Amino acid sequence: MCGIVGYVGKQRAVSIIIEGLKRLEYRGYDSAGVCVLQGGQLDVAKKAGRVEVLAKEAARHRFNGTTGIGHTRWATHGGVTDANAHPHVSSDGKFALIHNGVIENYSQMKQFLVGKGYTFASETDTEVLCNLIAYHYAKEPVGQNGGSRFVECVRKSLQHVEGTYGIVVLGVDFPGEMVAARKASPLILGVGDGEYIIASDASALVSRTQNVVYLKDGEIVHITPAAFSITTLDQEDVSPVVDRITWSVADADMGDYAHFMEKEIFEQPQALENTMRGRFSEDGSTANFGGLNITAAELRQIDRFLFCACGTAWHACLVTEHLIERFARIPCEVDYASEFRYRNTPLHSNTLFFVISQSGETIDTLAALREAKRKGYKALAINNVVGSTIAREADGGIYQHVGPEIGVASTKAFTSQLMVGAMVALYVARLRDMSFSDGVQYVKALKGAPALVRKALEQAPHIRAIAKRFAGYHDMLFLGRLSLFPLALEGALKLKEISYIHAEGYPAAEMKHGPIALISEKCPSVFFAPAGEIFPKIVSSMQEIKARKGPVIAIITEGCELPPGLADEVITIPDCHEAVLPMVAAIPIQLLSYYIAVERGCDVDKPRNLAKSVTVE
Ligand code: F6R
Repeated sequence: MCGIVGYVGKQRAVSIIIEGLKRLEYRGYDSAGVCVLQGGQLDVAKKAGRVEVLAKEAARHRFNGTTGIGHTRWATHGGVTDANAHPHVSSDGKFALIHNGVIENYSQMKQFLVGKGYTFASETDTEVLCNLIAYHYAKEPVGQNGGSRFVECVRKSLQHVEGTYGIVVLGVDFPGEMVAARKASPLILGVGDGEYIIASDASALVSRTQNVVYLKDGEIVHITPAAFSITTLDQEDVSPVVDRITWSVADADMGDYAHFMEKEIFEQPQALENTMRGRFSEDGSTANFGGLNITAAELRQIDRFLFCACGTAWHACLVTEHLIERFARIPCEVDYASEFRYRNTPLHSNTLFFVISQSGETIDTLAALREAKRKGYKALAINNVVGSTIAREADGGIYQHVGPEIGVASTKAFTSQLMVGAMVALYVARLRDMSFSDGVQYVKALKGAPALVRKALEQAPHIRAIAKRFAGYHDMLFLGRLSLFPLALEGALKLKEISYIHAEGYPAAEMKHGPIALISEKCPSVFFAPAGEIFPKIVSSMQEIKARKGPVIAIITEGCELPPGLADEVITIPDCHEAVLPMVAAIPIQLLSYYIAVERGCDVDKPRNLAKSVTVE
């Protein structure tokens, strides 16, 4: 949440910052701002609205400086106004600051600073921190050791802060310098050719450099045009490790698609290939994971799995639960990360704890991981963003390798999480009692998943036509059973988050215990009705809806036949192995939600009130 960019180098900072903010806009998009240090002043332009609005405003300023910071906001404290947009400047004009996170004890600090004569132009927690830095600086202004004095003022201020932050600070007395620090909000330093770019994530800097340093919690970086150095809040020196990003700027571009979400939906066959690559045994009967950091012998001792995540990733956990219990026959539980972190869940010594997170920065998921570790459990992560906080703090894990996911609504990351979950289930099952030949069948099925997903994507024009017909409704139900019940939840989430249509997901048979009261000609139901022993039961549930005049959209697998007239619309997907079915079934609900949102004129990649990567509680 909130996108941060800072630049120190030889180029005009404003162009690089605005370009970076455009790439970070998916993290928050209610207001944006930029501050450039030039002519001995901190010159600020900031506006409520999108980065485009800021770009126009910035063009009116004569921003020529080569040091600057920029921010795109997802509001926490204070409404969406020009004044509340970042950067904030201290009331003495000495420091400018951008912030991602929440300062929890801001009101006590504000009282203190008001008592010292500092004034406030916004309702934000961030402005308090900016004035606090100015206060520490005013107490003892710059001496001989100019640069490190800057760091000291930031360090002293942060020592008083409770909450979370990724911050970047400019000081009027420190031309060409920048100080940044993090606690629970991500920051990456790009080490370029004679320039440094600091940002919330790599997409903002990858066009200028692929060499990066992932800052850790409690670290402060001091940047000058010539060098950077990292220390901790406790003043210890840190030797930085420069990593290389494996993807390029082209991966973060939209290409010929209308939206990132559309691009990412159609990228799924390739994304699944990437997730599987190099991860099957030579005999083709099981999966292999390089970084799991748990031996086969240890895994054989595991008698319970616990998965935690948020949102769409939580739905991936539910599918994984189904597959682990079905194929490995080990009890598995799923909890919301936000609940787990505050509940005192009893964990047995042979429990294996997993989190799933695309971004690897979701604060609740991170807190759940830390809580499990604090209790002494091995905690593993399934995660897409290499070098993310969760990836670094987990005891081991599995990277999804699907490249940057920019659309706020998760699509390719979700199906890739389903793939990893299916592979984990296979791996554990083969360590127990799944036979060699069943393992070979399972692996073959997983390898066939990209082709089946591609086939399901061929339904796009048909689904688009259905979307036109249903875009005007206000409510919708999504119904499924077994491994497709989580897909019903996912369908409802996708639809509501991007099209603002109220939607609910239910196990199909549960519908008659309450939700059926909603059914009328005004409330359509989307059913997953795959072939198998449960098919006739699902058909009965459809009959119950139809008897109450509810429109029915049926997603069936090839070879299934519905009684004539039962469904108003039918979408056919390939029939497939149980481990692959959820990946294939995800396609029609993603496309349906996407086309309905487009039909309603919604801003698909930037839905209202949302942001990618939820780094606040
Ligand atoms: C919905 C969506 C969110 C995320 C959730 C967790 O489309 O994207 O529900 O799934 O915020 O995010 P990660 O996976 O980054 O932890």
